[in-house]
Amino acid sequence: MKKVILTADRPTGKLHLGHYIGTLKSRVEMQNAGNYDEFYVMIADAQALTDNAKNVQKVRENILEVALDYLACGLDPNKICIFIQSEVPALTEMTFYYMNLVNLSRLKRNPTVKEEIKFRGFGENIPVGFLTYPISQTADITAFNANIIPVGEDQLPVIEQAREIVKTFNTTYGDVLVMPDAIIPKQKSQARLVGIDGKGKMSKSLGNCIYLSDDEKTIKEKVMSMYTDPDHIKISDPGKIEGNVVFEYLDAFITPDSFEKYMPEYKNLEELKDHYKRGGLGDVKIKLFLNNVLQELLAPIRMRRKIFEKNPEKIFEMLFKGSDQANLIANKTMEKIKSAMGINYRKKFDNKN
Ligand code: TRP
Repeated sequence: MKKVILTADRPTGKLHLGHYIGTLKSRVEMQNAGNYDEFYVMIADAQALTDNAKNVQKVRENILEVALDYLACGLDPNKICIFIQSEVPALTEMTFYYMNLVNLSRLKRNPTVKEEIKFRGFGENIPVGFLTYPISQTADITAFNANIIPVGEDQLPVIEQAREIVKTFNTTYGDVLVMPDAIIPKQKSQARLVGIDGKGKMSKSLGNCIYLSDDEKTIKEKVMSMYTDPDHIKISDPGKIEGNVVFEYLDAFITPDSFEKYMPEYKNLEELKDHYKRGGLGDVKIKLFLNNVLQELLAPIRMRRKIFEKNPEKIFEMLFKGSDQANLIANKTMEKIKSAMGINYRKKFDNKN
């Protein structure tokens, strides 16, 4: 079977370390490994509008920011197709037909959507578009026959819903849609990166992010302000690892040579953790270590971003080219869908219905 990868991000803000470790890093690795037939990366502006109808400007501006973050991290439009959701009308058309294959109570039960509704304080006033975004997301996926969907853990129920729609479509109209599978990061600290305040996952709305575009000074300030162990007051006190943001980040971001480069007095993270637990290791020291690790990661990303930032027209040119390519594929799938459903009136019916 063909391997088609599709991933997407809502353009509601610049991308941060949570995006990087949760998906961007592995996207670039997959891209460069080349073990796929097609690879799509979509900027989900239409999905972002489902809870930003009155904030179009924010969504519009962040299309460029997200594209810059992609390129800065190493996504390469010569290898993969990067495009804008709203530039592909077939996605909206598909969504409309998929809507008939899902019922309202199933949508309301989706744990991810439920959580998001609560978080946004919609109460009973949920925009219909928002409630139904998993249906539109199913269109995003199936339009490209994507079967490998790298997502964060929180998106699993949405992919599950997509699988249900695919199954219902195929049993109702005939085998047209490809069944997608979610893949999530293996390591817990990567699947769900906690914010610098330790209160929840890193998220723009909680204001606890380190952005890929943050400058050196800002990164350091954020690292030095990280939540650690509130009971670890004196250096000699024993410290806790669980819930300690610095250690969660070290788990996620450390590389094989980090200790040799920045903290040669320890062999590995286990040794460092043991010392912290025993007592005698101060927060400042582990924070400075983490700062070094993160600066090394983010400096080249920030530098590349600066170069791409100089030429926004070029970035949009790239996005439109990707969108043209995406339209070719999505339109083909749309044809197949209409023909399977028997609503391709302009072509002779193909005996399926
Ligand atoms: N809902 C995803 C998110 O918030 C974004 C998204 C839109 C997506 N369409 C998709 C993810 C298709 C995977 C596949 O992160």
